[in-house]
Amino acid sequence: MTVESVQPVEPRIPELREPPLAGGGVPLLGHGWKLARDPLAFMSRLRDHGDVVRLKLGPKTVYAVTTPALTGALALSPDYKIGGPLWESLEGLLGKEGVATANGSRHRRQRRTIQPAFKLDAIPAYGPIMEEEAHGLTERWTSGETIDCTSESFRIAVRIAARCLLRGDYMDERAERLCVALATVFRGMYQRMVIPLGPLYRLPLPPNREFNRALADLHLLVDEIVAERRASGQRPDDLLTALLEAKDDNGDPIGEQEIHDQVVAIVTPGSETVASTIMWLLQVLAEHPEHADKVRAEVESVTGGRPVAFEDVRRLTHTNNVVVEALRLRPAVWILTRRAITDTELGGYRIPAGADIVYSPYAIQRDARSYAGHLDFDPDRWLPERVKDVPKHAMSPFSVGNRKCPSDHFSMAQLSLITAAVATRYRLEQVPGSNDATRVGITLRPHKLLLRPVPR
Ligand code: HEM
Repeated sequence: MTVESVQPVEPRIPELREPPLAGGGVPLLGHGWKLARDPLAFMSRLRDHGDVVRLKLGPKTVYAVTTPALTGALALSPDYKIGGPLWESLEGLLGKEGVATANGSRHRRQRRTIQPAFKLDAIPAYGPIMEEEAHGLTERWTSGETIDCTSESFRIAVRIAARCLLRGDYMDERAERLCVALATVFRGMYQRMVIPLGPLYRLPLPPNREFNRALADLHLLVDEIVAERRASGQRPDDLLTALLEAKDDNGDPIGEQEIHDQVVAIVTPGSETVASTIMWLLQVLAEHPEHADKVRAEVESVTGGRPVAFEDVRRLTHTNNVVVEALRLRPAVWILTRRAITDTELGGYRIPAGADIVYSPYAIQRDARSYAGHLDFDPDRWLPERVKDVPKHAMSPFSVGNRKCPSDHFSMAQLSLITAAVATRYRLEQVPGSNDATRVGITLRPHKLLLRPVPR
């Protein structure tokens, strides 16, 4: 026997430390009560305790990742899958068989089915619908009336997603139903995520009944969309046709449940995230009239005074930067979770198989260590000469890696077009009764944004 052959085998992950426990936990509840009480402040302070920290949520240990580099490493690593409290709470809504909650080969197959509808070169085909909806929004408003930004933002987000991707007629009545159902369901899901009371949510209490009714209506709406398309006998070249004709790994048609869950997994994140971001953009135009004026001047210099069109968007640098800055300060998706599928490491710390990991794009994107004037609304920080100062992965509102939002181009195009259309036509003012404080749910949005449009 040679000396080499008795050398100890190098462990796969040598010398790993356990991440420090975040301060401020209390007996039994651990950090849960702080997370439930003021989640944004809680997540934003975690980096002071370390790059990776342990949290106690009741009896459970959860790992929080707090630096841009490590959130990037987490999102790009094959050692983690979609899982953890956020996704468990969303499974009740999104189903287990749709792209947003699936893992492994099913997820890869489903991404291949939906990806063509979101490719950069597919977006111009949606241009006419986005233009019609953006101008339709401003034409609906009359001078001096009070605009309820929650319902207006949901309405346009749902209509654009449905008209572009599902080629559905989407009557206002259906958009309204979807909006009401989603608001109730998302509120309930968030509550179930931060206060996991298990069987208590099955008791026949009024809030539980309201939640169940909303969830049932959401699924009914999706069944209506699928049934209508089938009854029409049409096969337009769109996402819904791709979903209806998708095949599984054996080349067989996918099941009805998967079709249903896929439509839910597209329509649901597609409306809630975009609607929340539109609300913040309207709030920004009201709060920063100097940027609203600059957007208007830019649009007019590009269009010469005609209504802004989809093709103009790529030349609207300042308008795009306003959208990006709004997404930095108020990322609709403010918290994300993953589950380790193997013993692994992050930043030199040991992460055991099965561990839940959490991170907050909100905390990352507002960190003073990454951004000068971190809380200032400063769209010019995205100009080419300044953007190089932003650390890698410090701005990822659509995430990175294999779970990256497929809809980043689709979303950016409509958000910029809507911002341009609104700012050229109106100045916006908040009215008494409006409350633009941040309301935390599965997404972030203003509590109740009420605006008065004043024609320019
Ligand atoms: C402002 C708008 C939006 C934001 C900020 C946003 C953000 C995100 C983020 C951060 C993820 C990744 C989640 C993770 O890493 O765990 C994601 C995934 C996803 N988003 Fe979006 N999203 C937006 C709009 C949309 C729209 C319009 C659609 C569809 C019409 C959409 C469909 C999806 C889907 C299907 C996934 C799951 C992808 C996968 O797991 O492979 N999103 N989104």
